[in-house]
Amino acid sequence: MEIVLSGIRSTGRLHLGNYFGAVRNFVKMQHNYNCYFFIADWHSLTTHTKPEDWKSNVKQILCEYLACGLDPEVATIYIQSDVPEIAELYLYLNMLAYKGELERTASFKEKARQQPDNINAGLLTYPVLMAADIIIHKANKVPVGKDQEQHLEMTRNFASRFNNLYGVDYFPMPTAFNFGNDLIKIPGLDGSGKMGKSEGNGIYLSDDAKTVEKKVMRAVTDSGPTQKNQKMPEPIKNLFTILEVVSTPDTVEHFKHQYNECTIRYGELKKQLAADINKTLDPIRERIQYFQSNDEHLAKVVKLGRDKARASAAKTLKDVREIIGIRPF
Ligand code: TRP
Repeated sequence: MEIVLSGIRSTGRLHLGNYFGAVRNFVKMQHNYNCYFFIADWHSLTTHTKPEDWKSNVKQILCEYLACGLDPEVATIYIQSDVPEIAELYLYLNMLAYKGELERTASFKEKARQQPDNINAGLLTYPVLMAADIIIHKANKVPVGKDQEQHLEMTRNFASRFNNLYGVDYFPMPTAFNFGNDLIKIPGLDGSGKMGKSEGNGIYLSDDAKTVEKKVMRAVTDSGPTQKNQKMPEPIKNLFTILEVVSTPDTVEHFKHQYNECTIRYGELKKQLAADINKTLDPIRERIQYFQSNDEHLAKVVKLGRDKARASAAKTLKDVREIIGIRPF
């Protein structure tokens, strides 16, 4: 069975775009692939997160994953820092990564611009740690967005350098998992691109009903159509795209008709949109709350994930040590 692996930084929060995009696909995929879903808490340290925030960050994203339907009995759901084998593999891969290529990485250059006072080596070797995450389980497929494709390419470079240096055919080359038509792209509320792309353009699973309402009411619109059946500008089309995933076809038709007749009132459209988003989120919010207040259950989930992830990682690391020549006396 093909191995699929996906990671999310522990400081990340799932938004509607994640939910209708990758995460709902993960829920189905977990039955057809050997899936690893993990929380990249080490990666989050590149920005020097506060110790007192670690637990709430990891817990929140874990609860969100579980609330969406990722099943710890079916997939392997774990926390990166629970698997020290990843750190050891990262060390070996660092010997194969060149300073120049790391400095040329787009994400590094961007981060260095964002935090000029903290351009640490962890930032520089971020792609190496990510490569270790992926090849520690010999993953074949990695669902990544455009912004992570370069990292995946670097992962293939490190993996093939390892294979070449030691004359083995050990690590498979991981490629991007393509959802094809199953991937619904949810736009943001500011009329510019994907949800999550810019600060404040997203609706998060953890937003309460009032927050959702406020955000939707603030969404960018225009002064309204002036000619019948005129083409929709981007921000309006975006609202309809979201409406299409959370509302009934009747509701969508109703507002489309009003748009085409130039009788639409964006205030009403937004009210309906907010109500239907909240209807979609209500059961998810309830499940997040359930897991949030059930530490005993979470502890079991974390242990199960750790055990499964470490079993797989230890096996790889044992081989890697052997291949490198680190052998017992
Ligand atoms: N870099 C990814 C992001 O920012 C998170 C991540 C870390 C990851 N390790 C990974 C994703 C391994 C896929 C595979 O979104």
